[in-house]
Amino acid sequence: MVKDFKVLAFISGRGSNLKSLLDNSRNYKIIGIVSDNPDAPGLQYGETYGVPVHIFSRKNYSNRVEFKRAIFDFAGGKGADLFALAGFMQIVSSDFIELQVGKIINVHPSLLPKYPGLDTHRQVLAAKEKEHGCTVHFVDAGVDTGPIIAQMKLECRAGETEEQLSARVLELEHQLYPWVVNSIAQGRIVLKDNCVVYAADILNQANQRGILIPRC
Ligand code: GRF
Repeated sequence: MVKDFKVLAFISGRGSNLKSLLDNSRNYKIIGIVSDNPDAPGLQYGETYGVPVHIFSRKNYSNRVEFKRAIFDFAGGKGADLFALAGFMQIVSSDFIELQVGKIINVHPSLLPKYPGLDTHRQVLAAKEKEHGCTVHFVDAGVDTGPIIAQMKLECRAGETEEQLSARVLELEHQLYPWVVNSIAQGRIVLKDNCVVYAADILNQANQRGILIPRC
């Protein structure tokens, strides 16, 4: 099968979600890996999987605005159908978001809208939450605020450490993110009028996999 749905991935660090996207790319092709961190361990997957890496270093730009302009001008020129943020630590420029409506997604380690931003696992433990999980959402101009596509949940365990909890959530991320990207690549999940619209079979699939779909 020719995978002509092109995904550009963005990372800043470890890249385990990128690896999961690479391992499970049934309906799409990762055409490049963009990193704002020249030392991101996840860049190794470019070589392993034969995917071009595009590294941007803040020190080559006089200010953050120019740095981000370089990243997103480059990204916009790649002809990607989807931009998948996977642990990318830059806020996406608002003009890029306006240009690419419905084409930028992110995976986040909490049940949004709860716990946007960093340190989600620590906050969940401190708040003694009963449940936690992960979210894939379309990116808008806020921090982790765009329309929610899908979530996976787990129950917090008594005495669980932050590391244990984050490892269990990460496993869910690795299932959820490729499922969403494969579904978007098949045109079965789309953003319409700022609302996420799903094909009927997607709802059945989600049900079988324990994936939660919000009502818009
Ligand atoms: C993941 O928890 C992701 O949800 C968050 O950053 C982390 C990245 O991990 N946005 P990795 O680089 O994919 O291993």
